[in-house]
Amino acid sequence: MTEAPNMTRMTPDPTAGLEGVVAATTRLSNVDGQNGVLILNGKRIEDLAGKMSFESAIGHLWQDVVGTMPGPVLRQALGEARLAAFSIVPLLESAPETLSVYERMQLGLAALPIMGTRSEAIAICGALPVFLAASRRIALKLGPIAPDSTLGTASDLLRMLRGERPPKDHSDALDRYLVTILDHGLNASTFTARVIGSTQAGLKQAVLGAMGALSGPLHGGAPGPVLDMIDAIGSPENTEDWISGALARKERLMGFGHRIYRTRDPRADVLKAGLRHLGDSSPKVRLAENIEQAALAALKKAKPDRPLDTNVEFFTAVLLDAIGIDRSLFTPLFAVGRTPGWCAHVLEQQQTGKLIRPASRYVGPGAGF
Ligand code: ACO
Repeated sequence: MTEAPNMTRMTPDPTAGLEGVVAATTRLSNVDGQNGVLILNGKRIEDLAGKMSFESAIGHLWQDVVGTMPGPVLRQALGEARLAAFSIVPLLESAPETLSVYERMQLGLAALPIMGTRSEAIAICGALPVFLAASRRIALKLGPIAPDSTLGTASDLLRMLRGERPPKDHSDALDRYLVTILDHGLNASTFTARVIGSTQAGLKQAVLGAMGALSGPLHGGAPGPVLDMIDAIGSPENTEDWISGALARKERLMGFGHRIYRTRDPRADVLKAGLRHLGDSSPKVRLAENIEQAALAALKKAKPDRPLDTNVEFFTAVLLDAIGIDRSLFTPLFAVGRTPGWCAHVLEQQQTGKLIRPASRYVGPGAGF
């Protein structure tokens, strides 16, 4: 009889999770986890988000790997890519009802016709907002709305979702969010994209794989559960009991902790500033701020040796909720914002011509022979 694998017998693996391992050289972004600083191609995230449009920020990130394209040129090219992608929407409408918005986006991406490297990156980045909005409307049994190529990505995405031009403060808030999450070092989805790209597979395959990695709750799937947590707590009086109960049950508080940051994630403050620009001081926003303070105090007490602070997902949830985005769209929106970063990393990886292929340590039967 074959013995079932017994994971508990395995000795602790110092390489588990590749923590601290440098697996790529990049000009794209740097995450300084000790000081809470995020740099994208030489600029701090605070100098990009809320100061520069999504299109201009992509142009800034892409300079050395995709080619120089000023924001207005990229805005027009992405608008045209949205129009082209709309021809795939009938396929999304005919897909099984059981598909989630995210899965429908992956389906649309798989079906997207592609030509040439630079245009492939633009085609993909233009297509995903269209697929997101159309898939949401299909799920709501509403007709998909064609893109308006004259608008910026954030504004057109909200228009395609809602069927009307959004107020400027809503599109500004979404634009700020998309810039905030544009790129972030060698996170799990970007690493996945680079691994796929290193086989010289196409950008589309790499983005599909990265979307798979992003979907998990330890990565891009956290903001929906953040809002669930805020709803479950419900009022400031419940906050402390709810949090201590969750920690006693060894549950993780969604929106806190990070593999790299040993201090506050700078993106949390960029998004919190977005809330201030919206002028939103609703009871829910006040409750979220109360929960943040209580969670930080409780985590400090529960895990004194592991600095656990607010991550990007906490205020992502609060900001997107404040502009009326349904929580089921948080991870799909994350994919829209991160796709230009994935594309840049894949192209940068492919410039090295090197296949990523690490080794593993065998501990199975016969190990040591
Ligand atoms: N709540 C409670 N405890 C936590 C949390 C949390 N949010 N995060 C980490 N811990 C604890 C762990 O239970 C563990 O404790 P233990 O040593 O007693 O077992 C210790 O801190 C270390 O945790 P690891 O999982 O080893 O640390 P890692 O760096 O791998 O984790 C992660 C990073 C996955 C983000 C983690 O902090 C987490 O699960 N956070 C909640 C989910 C979340 O917010 N995800 C979004 C991350 S941001 C992004 O990907 C865009």
